Amino acid sequence: MTDCVAAPDAALIDAFKNAMRRQASTVTIITARDGSGRHGMAATAVSSVSTTPPSLLICVNKSASLHGPIGSSGAFCINLLSCDHHALVPLFSGKLKGDERFRNGDWAETETGMPYLRDAQASIFCKVAQTVPYGSHSIFIGTVEDIQLYGEAAPLLYQEGSLFRSHSLAC
Ligand SMILES: Cc1cc2nc3c(=O)[nH]c(=O)nc-3n(C[C@H](O)[C@H](O)[C@H](O)COP(=O)(O)O)c2cc1C
Repeated sequence: MTDCVAAPDAALIDAFKNAMRRQASTVTIITARDGSGRHGMAATAVSSVSTTPPSLLICVNKSASLHGPIGSSGAFCINLLSCDHHALVPLFSGKLKGDERFRNGDWAETETGMPYLRDAQASIFCKVAQTVPYGSHSIFIGTVEDIQLYGEAAPLLYQEGSLFRSHSLAC
């Protein structure tokens, strides 16, 4: 499939970034494993796609260290973070590199070696069904193979460049 992105206009890109900063999103750490080991990245570009089959999409920058391992292994895990995980976000978005990122947090591995965060709100294990290159990113569509839930829903949110916990309007 070919990329189909028009020449970028700087003002439009700025406006786009500003608009997207106003979209509150649950922070995740997406993980993968390849022959070189464990890989993980903080990410918010995650969306459910369909229930039949259960599937999700993630958008991963082609320059990110996670991009190659997902492509070559054909599998990834989306770990939905809770408020307690806020300290992991900078570590998984550039402060640490490679396997060092896993030194913090309660990480475990499946039988096939996929890393997952034991106390994530949810860990969603996916097999890549389709890869769509688009602009700077690839969209990986994954069919869900397994799900692990932990504790109560307490999403860690990202908005305007900061981390938040969610509050019910009834509070
Ligand atoms: C809250 C947050 C959300 C992010 N979401 C995404 C995302 O959805 N996709 C992406 O490619 N990078 C995303 N990033 C950026 C990557 O986490 C960051 O570039 C990371 O360092 C990946 O590059 P590296 O593994 O090569 O260091 C996000 C960063 C933060 C802090």
